[in-house]
Amino acid sequence: MNILILGSGGREHAVTQKLSQSAKPLKLFVAPGNPGTAAIAVNLPVDPLDFDAVKAAVINNNIRMVVVGPEAPLVEGIRDFFESDAELASVPVIGPCRKGALLEGSKDFAKAFMYRHNIPTAAYRTFSAENMDEAPLFLKTLRPPYVLKADGLAAGKGVLILDDYNEAVIELDAMIAGRFGKASNRVVIEEYLTGIELSAFVITDGVSYKILPEAKDYKRVGEGDTGKNTGGMGAVSPVSFATPEFMKRVEQRIIIPTIDGLRQEGIDYKGFIFFGLMNVKGEPYVIEYNARLGDPETEVILPRIESDLFDLLEGVAEGNLGDRHIKCCGDTAVTVMMVSGGYPDEFGKGFLISGTEEVTESIVYHAGTRNNQGSLVTSGGRVLAVTSLGRTMEEALEKSYRSILKIRFDGAYCRKDIGFDLQTTAR
Ligand code: AMP
Ligand code: GLY
Repeated sequence: MNILILGSGGREHAVTQKLSQSAKPLKLFVAPGNPGTAAIAVNLPVDPLDFDAVKAAVINNNIRMVVVGPEAPLVEGIRDFFESDAELASVPVIGPCRKGALLEGSKDFAKAFMYRHNIPTAAYRTFSAENMDEAPLFLKTLRPPYVLKADGLAAGKGVLILDDYNEAVIELDAMIAGRFGKASNRVVIEEYLTGIELSAFVITDGVSYKILPEAKDYKRVGEGDTGKNTGGMGAVSPVSFATPEFMKRVEQRIIIPTIDGLRQEGIDYKGFIFFGLMNVKGEPYVIEYNARLGDPETEVILPRIESDLFDLLEGVAEGNLGDRHIKCCGDTAVTVMMVSGGYPDEFGKGFLISGTEEVTESIVYHAGTRNNQGSLVTSGGRVLAVTSLGRTMEEALEKSYRSILKIRFDGAYCRKDIGFDLQTTAR
């Protein structure tokens, strides 16, 4: 069976690799993919947002399932596009319809959804040009720091956390005026939650769901969680404070009401849901939803799944996920992101990468790499995600950091403290 994976980062490399280990004979295609996926699948030079080009690729390659990695094609309605096209309607897309993807594509939609279904989340109000004169008053009801979120997709940059009231009022005006383009014409202002973050993931066919391993990612560029936000500098799974009791609460108060709420609202959600959570004194709150898997979280989640990923995807496509089983290993997986110097600000590209073939005790997922006439070079800020498994987090981290010593490119940087805030023993 031929499967097309859309995307080009470490997440898509990890998904492709997991599928390549399926017991089913699968032929894997990735659009556009990267040199990591090229080694295990066929890369197609197709932009996932060019739906007509995706359609041509599906037909020309007899694709029977499409797995969507990033959010943008989902928010743009790739699933709806397939369902309304006579030639594509029989090809299942793993990923929600446009309305379901609004859980990620509109913070206002997500917050209102959580309120409708009594899902714990920070108190909020949404402002736009029409009611922005009421915002200063609302801000006054909150204690600093103030959390301002662009309603729409803003490439992970649309959240501002400000200590100063006046600054918050000024930034709100700038956002509504278009600081993040159309994405911030509406702004969610919400209560600041104090706690420790983690992410939970499920795969669902719209009725049944399977909980995937949880993960914690490290978003700040600097050690000790300092400096600018990035797409993610590393991740760990499992998360030591995500005890079975805590995860039961996540399931009862968040996962079940979300899946039931989607169904009650007639939203056909088939795919992954990523719950960005805050553990506030043992109680889980939703900070955000994403309509996809995380990156780099996927690079620690999938290596811990022992069951066949294709079996789960098939369960989603056929609507019988409840009959499938997921088995996870108890080892700890860590990933450390090697980034290009300067990231997340300006950084160079095209630096020669060497040494990946010397790595034996880790999996090297390609994130921002390119093949330049037979040489592997950097092509993005996040370059490689170096994942290892160990009986403890320390053991896994030692492996990843030893592997990183073998890999070289100009300006390479990684955080040396991934997992620093977690207990260092296995759960
Ligand atoms: P988001 O893009 O929604 O994930 O927000 C980016 C980051 O801002 C999150 O990972 C949190 O660290 C932080 N954040 C967002 N909302 C809140 C909140 N209500 N309280 C505290 N921190 C938050
Ligand atoms: N690592 C965060 C994300 O994928 O959104």
